[in-house]
Amino acid sequence: MSGGHLFLIGFMGAGKSTVARLVAERLGLVAVDLDEMIEQRAGRSVTEIFDRDGEDAFRDLETEALSALSALPPRVVACGGGVVLRPENRALLKRLGTVVHLTVTADVALARIGDVSTRPLLAGPSGTLAATRLLEARERLYRSVADLEVDTVGRSPDAVADAVVETVRGAR
Ligand code: S3P
Repeated sequence: MSGGHLFLIGFMGAGKSTVARLVAERLGLVAVDLDEMIEQRAGRSVTEIFDRDGEDAFRDLETEALSALSALPPRVVACGGGVVLRPENRALLKRLGTVVHLTVTADVALARIGDVSTRPLLAGPSGTLAATRLLEARERLYRSVADLEVDTVGRSPDAVADAVVETVRGAR
C-alpha cells in the first residue's frame, strides 16, 4: 500500500460517490468522481457514451481519466464500478494510491440505485439478474486490487465514511 490518492472501488450502488465526498471532507481533501471526469472530458453523459460508442469506447476514456490522475495531488477518487475490469487500470490503481473496496450485495445495490436508466449495464429487462451476475463476476477483481475493505450494507453514508477513515488511518 502507498500514499497518493484514496480510491473507492466497488459495485454500482455501493455509495462510492457520496462516500468519497464525505471522506474528503473528513480528511480535508478534494473528492473526484471518475465518471464525472469522463463526462467532462467527453462532453457527454456516461449513458450517451455507452449508447453511441459502446462499452469499449467508454473503457478507453475511463483508462485515460485514471491515468490523468497521476498528475494530481492526493484526492479521494470515486471510481466507476467497472474500473477493475482492465488489467492496466488495476495496475494504475495500485500504483497511484490506496484502494478501498466498498462492499454491497446486489439487492441492496439495486434498491439504492432505484432508477437504473443511468446505469447502462443494469438498464435491460432484468436488472436483478444482471446485477447478481455482474457482481459475482467482479468480486474477485475488486478483492484482487483492494488494500482495504469496508462493508456498506446497513450503514448510512456517514457511517461508511467514518469506517473508511478509521480503516485507512489504521493501515497507513
Ligand atoms: C459501471 C459503473 C458506473 C459507470 C458505468 C459502468 C460498471 O459507475 O462507470 O455505467 O461497469 O459497473 P458507478 O459504479 O458509479 O455507478
